[in-house]
Amino acid sequence: MATVSGIIVVLSCKNVVHDRHWLAVEYIWVLVPYMTYDIYVMYLCHWHKSQEKGILQKKHSLASVWSFLLQERLMVTHHLFILIVLTPITQHFRGELGDFFVGCIFIAELSTPFVSLGKILMQLKMQDTLLHKVNGILILVTFFVCRILLFPFMYAAYARQVGMPLYLVPFRIPLHCNIANASLIAPQLYWFRLICRKAARLYGGSPAHRS
Ligand SMILES: *[C@@H]1O[C@H](CO)[C@@H](O)[C@H](O)[C@H]1NC(C)=O
Repeated sequence: MATVSGIIVVLSCKNVVHDRHWLAVEYIWVLVPYMTYDIYVMYLCHWHKSQEKGILQKKHSLASVWSFLLQERLMVTHHLFILIVLTPITQHFRGELGDFFVGCIFIAELSTPFVSLGKILMQLKMQDTLLHKVNGILILVTFFVCRILLFPFMYAAYARQVGMPLYLVPFRIPLHCNIANASLIAPQLYWFRLICRKAARLYGGSPAHRS
């Protein structure tokens, strides 16, 4: 839903700075509940995993919530950043500008179903199947295109709009836009490195290393 909404917004905003599309604003009604739900589901997942490992903590106890926050700190920070920082920016502080770029960010979600399927296949002990390998390639490609290449694409779209060379864009847009873009791409680069390392093991290593 996020990606389809993003593509609709991106295709309909010809002027990348001023054009508007209602989905860029109203999608918030899906995004905020989803992110909130996702944090809670990650907590439940963490709790069940630690039960299996024999760490018997009460559900929703302070200790188990704390160990969840410690272990999943990057993912939780990512979700909270979206909820606490990006949502107010997209809803209020950006004013009437930049629906196109909000649409671009929605497209980033395309890799998520493949990442989830990969985890499900591991749980079903299907990591040696063709499906898992094909899925792995789809993760690499969608993640690279929609979460890494997306950023140069946004800068290029702006450059084209205002008619300036791409390399000048970082110096012409406000500093806080560069900072926002940098803080968005930083965790993606980190996760992409992890995904590449996993892929190297999956496609290169011996079957014993694949698990
Ligand atoms: C990211 O960069 C683009 C292109 O220069 C800019 O228009 C956009 O506002 C930036 N994103 C954020 C969240 O500031």
